[in-house]
Amino acid sequence: MPFTQQEIEEEREHFANVIATFQQYAPYSLNANNRRRKDIFIIPIEDRELLEDIGYKERILDTDKAILANANFLSKVVANPEIFGHDLSDLEEGESKENLQQEDLEQEDLHARPEPSHHGHSHGHPHSHSHSHSHGEGSHSRTHDHSDPQTATATQRKRKYRPTEHDMDKLRSTLKQLVRDWSEEGKAERDVCYEPMKEALLQHFSDIPEDERRNFRVLVPGAGLGRLAWDVAKLGFACQGNEFSHYMLLASFYMLNRTDEVHQHTIYPYVHSFSNIVNNEGLLRPIKIPDVLPSSLPPGSDFSLVAGECDFEEIYGDDANDASEPHAGQWDAVMTCFFIDTAKNIVNYLRIIHRILAPGGVWINLGPLLWHWENNTTNDPSIELTLEELKVLARKIGFEISNERTIDTTYTNNAQSMLGYVYHAQFWTAKKII
Ligand SMILES: C[S@@+](CC[C@H](N)C(=O)[O-])C[C@H]1O[C@@H](n2cnc3c(N)ncnc32)[C@H](O)[C@@H]1O
Repeated sequence: MPFTQQEIEEEREHFANVIATFQQYAPYSLNANNRRRKDIFIIPIEDRELLEDIGYKERILDTDKAILANANFLSKVVANPEIFGHDLSDLEEGESKENLQQEDLEQEDLHARPEPSHHGHSHGHPHSHSHSHSHGEGSHSRTHDHSDPQTATATQRKRKYRPTEHDMDKLRSTLKQLVRDWSEEGKAERDVCYEPMKEALLQHFSDIPEDERRNFRVLVPGAGLGRLAWDVAKLGFACQGNEFSHYMLLASFYMLNRTDEVHQHTIYPYVHSFSNIVNNEGLLRPIKIPDVLPSSLPPGSDFSLVAGECDFEEIYGDDANDASEPHAGQWDAVMTCFFIDTAKNIVNYLRIIHRILAPGGVWINLGPLLWHWENNTTNDPSIELTLEELKVLARKIGFEISNERTIDTTYTNNAQSMLGYVYHAQFWTAKKII
C-alpha cells in the first residue's frame, strides 16, 4: 500500500529527529554529567576535599571522556544519513508540534515513573511500565499528529530540534543493544537467548543437508540489531530480519555494512548512570565491537535486514485479503525473540505469523509478556493476554506447540551492576498444522 504524502513527511521528520538525537548526544550527556560537577561545589568544602581524595572528581572527568568517545562513534553512525533516502536539508531546524507534545508527556512520565521500562532500558523495571516510551520509535506510527504537513513544516523551521529524554533513552538503549548483539561481553546473554532458538531451528530442519539450508526462508521480526538473523544466515539458511526502529536501522546498517574489522570500535555503554555501580570498571569499562566480522557470512549467503520503514504488520500482513499477497505461505520459519509483546493486537500478530508460514513451518519464540502498549496514553488498543491464554489462542489459530519451557535471562544487562532484572522468558516451538 503506497504511503500518503503526509506519512512520507512524518517519516522524514521522525528520521531527521533521530539523526538530531545522535548528533546532540555529546552536549546532552556532558551536560547531565556536569550537573555532578556543579553539585560538588554546593556541598561543604571539607566534604568536597574528601571526595577529591577518593577520586570522585576524577571519575566525573573520566565519564566526560567516555561520553566523548561514544559521541565519536555515534557521529560515524550518522555520518551519511542521506543514504537512507530522505532529504534532510532542513535537519538542523526540525522540531514539530508532535514532538513538543510528546516531550511534555515525557516530562510528566518521568515524574510519575522514575524508572522507564520496556525491554530496551537498562534500568527498566517490569512493574513500572512507561509505555509511552515504546511509541513513535517506529515508522508511520499511528500516534502521529495528523495536522497539515505544510503547517508542520512551517512549525519545524522555527526551532532546532531538541531531543527529549525519551529520544536520548532510545539512543542509550541502542548502545546497550550493541553490547547484546555484537560484543564478547554480550555473548553470555546471547547464548541464553539465541542458542536455544537456533537449536530448535536446526532440530526442525534436521533432515535437510547443510548445503540445502539456503532453500529455507527464515524471518526474524523485531530483529533489533540483527545478530540473531545474522547467526541464522551463518548457519546457512536464507534469513530476513525485520525492524522498524530508526535507531536500530542506523546502528545495524553501520555494523553490517560499514565495519571491516573485529573490535573496530570502542563504546562505553554504562556511563549514563552512576547508580548501583560497584567500582570504576562497572561504569567505565570499554566494550569493543564487533566480536565477529559482520561480512564473514559464507559466499552466497542470503541475509537481509529490512529496517526503518517496516512495521511487521504492514509488511507481512497488509494484504491479508489479497490472493496475490507475496508473503502467505512463503516462510519456513519465523523466529520471535522478545518481540510478540510489542503487539497492540496479539491476535493479528499470531494470524500473520501463521499465514506467512508454509504448511509444516515452524514458529520459534522466546520472550516475556511485557505488553508494550499497556496503559498507553495515545488511545491505541492493547490486548494483554496471559501466557495460558496466548497458548490457547495459538492452538486455535492452528499451531501445535511443543518444547515449552522457561528460560531465565537478562536483557541488555550491565553484568557488573548491583541491579539486574531477570525475565522468566517463555520458550516454545510451534508448528503450523492447519
Ligand atoms: C525488545 S526488542 C528485541 C530485539 C531483538 N529481537 C533482541 O532480542 O535483541 C523488540 C524490537 O522489536 C521492534 N519492533 C516493535 N514493534 C515492531 C513492529 N511492529 N514491526 C517491526 N519491529 C518492531 C522494536 O523496535 C525492537 O527493536
